[in-house]
Amino acid sequence: MSQTAASTSITSQLATVKITESDGEDRPVPPTETKADGAKVIDNGAVEQPEFTDPFCNADNPQIITFQDVTSAAFRIKKGIEYTPCPRSHLSETLDMDIYLKKEFLQFTGSFKERGARYALLMLSDEQKQIGVISASLGNHAQGLSYHGWKLGIPVTVVMPLKASLMKIQKCRDYHANVIVQGSDMGQAKKIALRMAHETGLTYINGYDHPHIMSGQGTIGLEIVEQVNSIDAVVIPVGGGGLIAGIATAIKNLSPQTKIIGVESEKCPSFTKALENGAPIYTPNKETLADGLAVPQVGYNAFATTVPLLDKMIVVKEEWIALAILRLVELEKCVVEGAGASGLAAILAGHMDEFKGKRVVLLVCGGNIDTTIFGRCLERGLAAEGRLQRFTVRVSDGPGGVSKLCNLLAELGVSIKDIMHDRAFIRDVHSVEVKVICETRDWHHTKEMRNLLQETYEDVYFYDMPMAI
Ligand SMILES: Cc1ncc(COP(=O)(O)O)c(C=O)c1O
Repeated sequence: MSQTAASTSITSQLATVKITESDGEDRPVPPTETKADGAKVIDNGAVEQPEFTDPFCNADNPQIITFQDVTSAAFRIKKGIEYTPCPRSHLSETLDMDIYLKKEFLQFTGSFKERGARYALLMLSDEQKQIGVISASLGNHAQGLSYHGWKLGIPVTVVMPLKASLMKIQKCRDYHANVIVQGSDMGQAKKIALRMAHETGLTYINGYDHPHIMSGQGTIGLEIVEQVNSIDAVVIPVGGGGLIAGIATAIKNLSPQTKIIGVESEKCPSFTKALENGAPIYTPNKETLADGLAVPQVGYNAFATTVPLLDKMIVVKEEWIALAILRLVELEKCVVEGAGASGLAAILAGHMDEFKGKRVVLLVCGGNIDTTIFGRCLERGLAAEGRLQRFTVRVSDGPGGVSKLCNLLAELGVSIKDIMHDRAFIRDVHSVEVKVICETRDWHHTKEMRNLLQETYEDVYFYDMPMAI
């Protein structure tokens, strides 16, 4: 697929945004009556609402953005967006790779989504600006749109799925948006937003597939090439695909030898499934630490723009994302959400070993993580690395039996986080079963503790082999 051949100038089309009805071809029951709002009364009297499509996301006519689209966006948004740093990472030495972190979580609302949102808002006609916009989002696009809408005086409505992070929902309210929490996932929320756009005249802005959104995200690529010389690869987290589409467009134009690597969580591999299928396809998502990436179907425009520029797509396990969050806190002092840590997760998991000794830029694209989830991620990260251990041991129930165990751990420098005794369910009345959760310094320390416990006690059982070693 040639990028230039399929390119259309997107700017000229914006004034004609209209929401059109789909043909509803897969409806099982033929409608008997159509109401003025497009709803259909079917045989049993039930009212079936029509589905509305986004005119900018058409499977049969995907829009491929150009380098000029990205540079125009960069010029327009320059004044309202942070030029984020891209320093060399402390992780470089331990991972044997020259790693740079593009710190997009330092944008005011905590993610890169502001770039596309601001550009899309600036490109509206005066009438569209007055009436306002609507979008569906899991949170970061909603925040970017809400914040810049507020700053630019454009009314913003966001539909957020029920599973959206509470913190992200509250933030949108703080930025004066009209927030509607509805729909079980992004697919549902999008349908609701499209219907509302049709009913109210608000302009619908897709958070990953609108050409102006992709162009806005692409401005990150221009900055990266300015900030880092001779880049071998850029690793970009993928949700609906807008971020990778924009950045790939910028980077492959300025630095064609740089490899473009996408990364997804194993819980929402929508882009990988689209590649297998040859086109975007609905891929049910499971709960993931990378909630920003949980988009069940990638965008048609994003897919068409990215595929010719993509060198590799990685699917990473959740444990590595948890560990990456932990590493970024400990070594970089960066608080990052799962999506933002998934590039590092790909390296930790060994998916990027061909880039050992080479120069790699990671998109650290979001920092909006719920405090409770953050706590759980750190614990999961410690467990994945073998630093949080869980074991059961049978010790004497006589005086000093449990204290001997505690002293043994204390002498090794192991810290007990939780301890539980069980007497009722074991046969030997002179013994007690002790379940311990404890923290060690590292995997060597863990092994030392395991060996000592096995030498000292007859009956000791360790749970979960750490995976990240
Ligand atoms: C922090 C973060 N990273 C990456 C992405 C993926 O971006 P896209 O949906 O454009 O692929 C998102 C999307 O919301 C996000 O919030």
